[in-house]
Amino acid sequence: MRRPVVAGNWKMHGMRAENARLVEALIEGADDASCEVVICPPFVYLWETGRQLKDTTIALGAQSVCAEVQGAFTGEVSAAMLKDAGCRYAIVGHSERRQLYYEDDALVARKFVAAQAAGLVPILCVGETLEERDRGVTEDVIGRQLDAVIAVAGVTALARAIVAYEPVWAIGTGKTATPDQAQAAHAFIRGRVAARDANIGGGLRLLYGGSVKAANAAELFGKPDVDGGLVGGASLKADEFLRICAAAT
Ligand code: PGA
Repeated sequence: MRRPVVAGNWKMHGMRAENARLVEALIEGADDASCEVVICPPFVYLWETGRQLKDTTIALGAQSVCAEVQGAFTGEVSAAMLKDAGCRYAIVGHSERRQLYYEDDALVARKFVAAQAAGLVPILCVGETLEERDRGVTEDVIGRQLDAVIAVAGVTALARAIVAYEPVWAIGTGKTATPDQAQAAHAFIRGRVAARDANIGGGLRLLYGGSVKAANAAELFGKPDVDGGLVGGASLKADEFLRICAAAT
């Protein structure tokens, strides 16, 4: 049985006072039941949000992580620092990082390894653009993104990771993949991993991301290979996010 996960990716939103109110409402509303809840604030607020989450069932995650261990990397934050600040998870390979900050498959793989080496659970994002979907190369793209990590980290590393399928055309656009489109991509990812190691493929937790809202969450999470969601915009509203979490349990 795979335990469902709902992770909120705040992106570059929120300031101290509103973060505190949002987190307070989440703590009040979260039932500590079967769904694992993670929130990923901007780096600068991790420590403070982590303090607020202390002794709750909600976990802290980072939105990115540096591939290097330490040294002269101005502006970067290492995995060990994130762990030290209270993070349990780190998102790697988000499409905004890939597209806007030119993070390629090789760098994403190194970030994945760096996160695990410091004891963080990577949430590895993969997904195709609209142009790639229209060209019929969705599986090639996702397969390539996944294989790049497996080549460097090994398939066994996926036992300590989460994978998020996030079609780029569905992120922040209000366009959600249909439950069948999500299921097809998830089944492909699970099969790709299971071909190397059946146990790890079977146990791998796969999140769908891309315009998840309370109104579509239950249908998406109802698919057999969808184990929860990576939620952007809708994670900034406590009620909405809590309803999404409830849909995952
Ligand atoms: P969205 O973002 O829910 O706002 O589409 C998802 C994500 O980028 O993780």
